[in-house]
Amino acid sequence: MAEPAVPHATHQVPAHIAIIMDGNGRWAQQRGLPRIEGHRRGVETVRRIIDATREFGVRMLTLYAFSAENWRRPQDEVGALMRLLELYLKRELKTFVKNRIQLRTIGRTHELPPGAQRQLARTIKATRDFSDYTLTLALNYGSRSEVVDAAHSYAAALAAGEISPSDRSWESFSRHLYTGDLPDPDLVIRTSGETRLSNFLLLQAAYAEFVFTPVLWPDFGRDDLAQAIAEYSRRERRYGKTSAQCGGSDEQ
Ligand code: FPP
Repeated sequence: MAEPAVPHATHQVPAHIAIIMDGNGRWAQQRGLPRIEGHRRGVETVRRIIDATREFGVRMLTLYAFSAENWRRPQDEVGALMRLLELYLKRELKTFVKNRIQLRTIGRTHELPPGAQRQLARTIKATRDFSDYTLTLALNYGSRSEVVDAAHSYAAALAAGEISPSDRSWESFSRHLYTGDLPDPDLVIRTSGETRLSNFLLLQAAYAEFVFTPVLWPDFGRDDLAQAIAEYSRRERRYGKTSAQCGGSDEQ
């Protein structure tokens, strides 16, 4: 039987979805278009998926928009991606405010071009009091550099006496990650058929469910998202416990 186009009332909707938006380049190449056209269509998908997640009751969405490794792409593609980001933020500000969407970023955003940084700062400031829905853009993000930055910040806090040397809890350390107080993702989706994490939220996704779909990001729609949520809701999240402890029938 085909999956419903909207998550059914019995489906458990993940509070936080993180997405590796992949396949823009292939989408464009398949049509004989320049790669940047795929990224432009990818921005339309971003709008569509924000709307769909809000409709389905998801509270947080994290998008891998530019990885720390993406600087290795041809300069014109990097420049075009940065301009797209700036334009997207300019155009979307009113919608974020109207829909009470808080924008956050994770990653070394201080290394982004000044125009993109200005637009990010403006949007973050204008939306910082909203709590209905949080959109986090991973920009110049990589989990490994995040751990290095967190270790520096943690060591400084230890040296300043803000953390007790006997405190070895994950809770204390994880506050120094870029994600800080953001809850871990429940579901990580990667489009385009690739089944890698590519340095994305490696620590935060420790207990996440993963859905890999062959659909290219520009083609990813509301129904694909509903299917991913239906798949998530069939999974049993055990956090190290047994199935029986979690209310399942399987004693293993
Ligand atoms: C991966 O596709 C996608 C990216 C590296 C960039 C994602 C960017 C967008 C969706 C647009 C900008 C986003 C915002 C939020 C304004 P790829 O180019 O690696 O595709 P390929 O693997 O088919 O080549």
